[in-house]
Amino acid sequence: MTGKVVKMAMVTTKCLVLFLCCSLSHVNSWQQDQQLPIVKNNETSSGKLNSNGGYSYKTLYYDQQIDHFGFTNGQTFKQRILVADQFWNRNGGPIFFYTGNEGDIDWFCNNTGFMWDIAPEFNAMLVFAEHRYYGESLPFGQDTYKNVSLLNYLTSEQALADFAENIRYLKTTIPGAENSAVVAFGGSYGGMLAAWLRIKYPNVIIGALASSAPIWQFTDLTPCNAFYDVTSKTWLDASTTCVENVHRSYNVLATIAESAGGFEFIQKAFGLCTPLASKYDLETFMDFLVEMYTDLAMVNYPYPASFLADLPAWPIKVACSYLSDPLDGKPLLAALGKVTNLYYNFTGNTNCVNWTDDGSADASLGTKGWDYQSCTEMVMPMCSNNTNMFYNIPWDFQEVSDKCFEKYKVRPRENWVALEYWAKQLKETSNIIFSNGLYDPWSSGGVMESISDTVVAIQIPYGAHHLDLRGSNPLDTRAVISARIQEKNIIRNWLKITYING
Ligand SMILES: *[C@@H]1O[C@H](CO)[C@@H](O)[C@H](O)[C@H]1NC(C)=O
Ligand SMILES: *[C@@H]1O[C@H](CO)[C@@H](O)[C@H](O)[C@H]1NC(C)=O
Ligand SMILES: *[C@@H]1O[C@H](CO)[C@@H](O)[C@H](O)[C@H]1NC(C)=O
Ligand SMILES: *[C@@H]1O[C@H](CO)[C@@H](O)[C@H](O)[C@H]1NC(C)=O
Ligand SMILES: *[C@@H]1O[C@H](CO)[C@@H](O)[C@H](O)[C@H]1NC(C)=O
Ligand SMILES: *[C@@H]1O[C@H](CO)[C@@H](O)[C@H](O)[C@H]1NC(C)=O
Repeated sequence: MTGKVVKMAMVTTKCLVLFLCCSLSHVNSWQQDQQLPIVKNNETSSGKLNSNGGYSYKTLYYDQQIDHFGFTNGQTFKQRILVADQFWNRNGGPIFFYTGNEGDIDWFCNNTGFMWDIAPEFNAMLVFAEHRYYGESLPFGQDTYKNVSLLNYLTSEQALADFAENIRYLKTTIPGAENSAVVAFGGSYGGMLAAWLRIKYPNVIIGALASSAPIWQFTDLTPCNAFYDVTSKTWLDASTTCVENVHRSYNVLATIAESAGGFEFIQKAFGLCTPLASKYDLETFMDFLVEMYTDLAMVNYPYPASFLADLPAWPIKVACSYLSDPLDGKPLLAALGKVTNLYYNFTGNTNCVNWTDDGSADASLGTKGWDYQSCTEMVMPMCSNNTNMFYNIPWDFQEVSDKCFEKYKVRPRENWVALEYWAKQLKETSNIIFSNGLYDPWSSGGVMESISDTVVAIQIPYGAHHLDLRGSNPLDTRAVISARIQEKNIIRNWLKITYING
């Protein structure tokens, strides 16, 4: 997501390709028994196949306002929405609505098995709405990222208004849906949006499950060192020696880089595509390693998964198995090379490790869009003062702001998100579940303690990034199984209340 090195849920090339066969249909002409294209996917996100062999849904395109907050621009764009109504009770069964985050919606659909797992018992309709400027939902088509004036409508407020419009439209056009209660679901930035949707539009949804949603990872709400401190704690849980080795490695890298043949050694030890050639390259490479350590904490799942990378169960344990003895010098770098090999080459198909890959070349607009968002609203302070497994990473808002201005001719507004979304005054809202895995670096900016009877925090020990939203798996921990049971009970409670009232 940001700092200079971290991201929330980057979309990698391999995630962008599956559901290509969707054809276009207009939600405006939706009729209940109209045959819409059904896309079948053979695989699920958790390594467990669904009983029907995959998730199936209809793909719809909604004519969405480009600008909800002014009236001079009347243009619309096609927003992609995935709908699965095969479990839905047409007599008022609920609608579970995923508030899409920064990437292709089918990817998030694929990685949110929890909604698919519980849809049958709730007789729920599932809807996955794509976030504007991502995936296929590009307001200005191929031009969308051409210049900064076209990026002007990429804000969380516009995205939330899209979702509210989607729900209003679905409820007024699908026969049987008018009395359906709507529950929002989201993970990561999508979880922030789910919570904010409840805060901003309590008339539209009855509640929200916000998983791994760092809504307080903003200036003055969370200390900037919290993110890397949680990351270190996650690694410390595997092994102290491992963390000490990593902490030592930055100086070792610098020393070896300066020695004769040092850059060649580093290239070989890490299997890099291109050699390092300067001090600046060395800094970039160290950032690259830091990003890998945080990503490993995000996806430290109890079973093999391929969320940000293809990895075995408990990947940090595996990584630390290479670093279980105190190491120094070249042997330490050789062992770290095994860690990068684990993260980038678990499948054995990677010829070389591309440390200069910032994701921009994989044509995933997701990375570009998030970069712009983190230069406007989503500016999340992160720093480390040389503790645990990181080196000194300062946070300098002015520097971030200047870089953003250079790139986009815009400057971030440091305090806007806190003002816009109620900062810590969440007693004034209701019916939000904030779930966080304690292994997840993003839990640093999450709501970790309940705020009221209905704004409830669920902590998941040994849980990584939105583990609870993933499909159930035989290797799931007791902690995540219990979190999901609590979540279902709370949602059931919301729905019953609605039925009595309405
Ligand atoms: C969905 O998950 C499966 C299994 O992990 C994976 O092979 C596939 O590429 C994913 N599809 C998308 C669109 O991410
Ligand atoms: C699903 O998997 C089966 C068995 O691996 C294969 O024969 C079939 O072609 C696949 N279907 C699709 C739609 O990919
Ligand atoms: C951005 O691109 C659009 C579409 O090509 C164009 O109409 C507009 O003038 C451009 N704006 C700037 C500031 O270059
Ligand atoms: C990736 O793994 C394969 C199989 O073990 C190996 O041949 C290859 O050299 C590895 N790539 C890198 C960059 O280490
Ligand atoms: C590494 O990634 C960069 C940026 O994404 C790309 O331009 C470059 O071609 C890649 N290099 C290799 C060897 O794949
Ligand atoms: C690291 O920085 C944070 C934030 O400035 C501070 O609260 C913490 O005490 C510092 N820790 C150490 C060990 O200096």
